[in-house]
Amino acid sequence: MNIANKTVLITGANRGIGRALVNEALRRGAKRVYAGRRSGELQNADDRVTPLRLDVTNLSQIQRAVDQVDNLDVLINNAGVAIYDDLSNSDAIEQHLSVNFLGMFKVTRAFLPLLQRSSGAIVNNLSLVALAPLPVIPSYSISKAAASNMTQSLRALLAGQGITVHGVFLGPIDTDMNRGFDIPKASTESAARGIFDGLEKGEEDIFPDPASQSIAEGWRTGAAKALERQFAAFVPERQ
Ligand SMILES: NC(=O)c1ccc[n+]([C@@H]2O[C@H](COP(=O)([O-])OP(=O)(O)OC[C@H]3O[C@@H](n4cnc5c(N)ncnc54)[C@H](OP(=O)(O)O)[C@@H]3O)[C@@H](O)[C@H]2O)c1
Repeated sequence: MNIANKTVLITGANRGIGRALVNEALRRGAKRVYAGRRSGELQNADDRVTPLRLDVTNLSQIQRAVDQVDNLDVLINNAGVAIYDDLSNSDAIEQHLSVNFLGMFKVTRAFLPLLQRSSGAIVNNLSLVALAPLPVIPSYSISKAAASNMTQSLRALLAGQGITVHGVFLGPIDTDMNRGFDIPKASTESAARGIFDGLEKGEEDIFPDPASQSIAEGWRTGAAKALERQFAAFVPERQ
C-alpha cells in the first residue's frame, strides 16, 4: 500500500515513535493524519494533521474518536507502556495487557468498519520481546507476545475482507521508553521510515531497524511462521 493520498491514524502520536510516524506519513504525502494522544500537546503545524484525544483504554474516548473520523486507510496501533517488573505480582501484567494488548484490540475493533470500507491496513507495533521475553520487563514481554498472537489471528480472519494486518517487530529505538537501557538504539525517524517501507512493500511482518533486521530472515523461514500459515488455512474463505 502506498501512503500518498491515504488517511492514516496513529495512536500514541505525541512523542517517540508515534510522533516520528506522523512526520513520515506527512513526508510520504498522506492526505490526512489523525494523531491520537492520551495526554500532552501535539506540535505539528501541518494542516493535514487532526489531533484526537485517544486513551486506548477508554471506550468512550475510542467511540468519540471513531465519530470524528470520516474514512480511514491505515490504522497504526503504536501506543504502549513498558514498566520494569519481576513477575512478583499480577498488577504489572494487568497494566501492560490493558494498554498494549486490550487497548490495541479495542481500537482495532472500533475502527474496523472504516477499514472494511477502504480495504485498509492495520499496523501493530510489537517488539522483538514478543518472540522471546526480555526477563527484566517480563510483563511487557507477555503483553507484546499476546498482541503478536492477536495480530496473526486478525491477519487470517480479516484477509477475506481485503484488510491486511502487519506486525512490526521493533528492536531498541531511542525514546523515553528505554531511556535507562544502555544499548545501541535506532532513531525514531529511521524506525518510522522502516515501518512505512515495510507497509509499502506489503510485508506482513516488518523488521524496521538493524536489531530486528538481523532476525528477519530466520523468522520468515522458521517453524513458527510455517505453523501460522498452516493454522490460518482453517479460516473459511470469506470470514
Ligand atoms: N522504544 C523502543 O525501544 C521500542 C521497542 C519495541 C517496541 N516499541 C513499541 O513502540 C511503541 C511506541 O513506543 P515508544 O518507544 O515511542 O514509547 P514512548 O516514547 O514511551 O511513547 C509511548 C506513547 O504511547 C502513549 N500511550 C501510553 N499509554 C497510552 C494509552 N493508554 N492510550 C494512548 N496512548 C498511550 C504515550 O502517551 P503519553 O505521552 O500520554 O504517555 C506515548 O505517546 C510502543 O508500542 C512500544 O511498545 C518500542
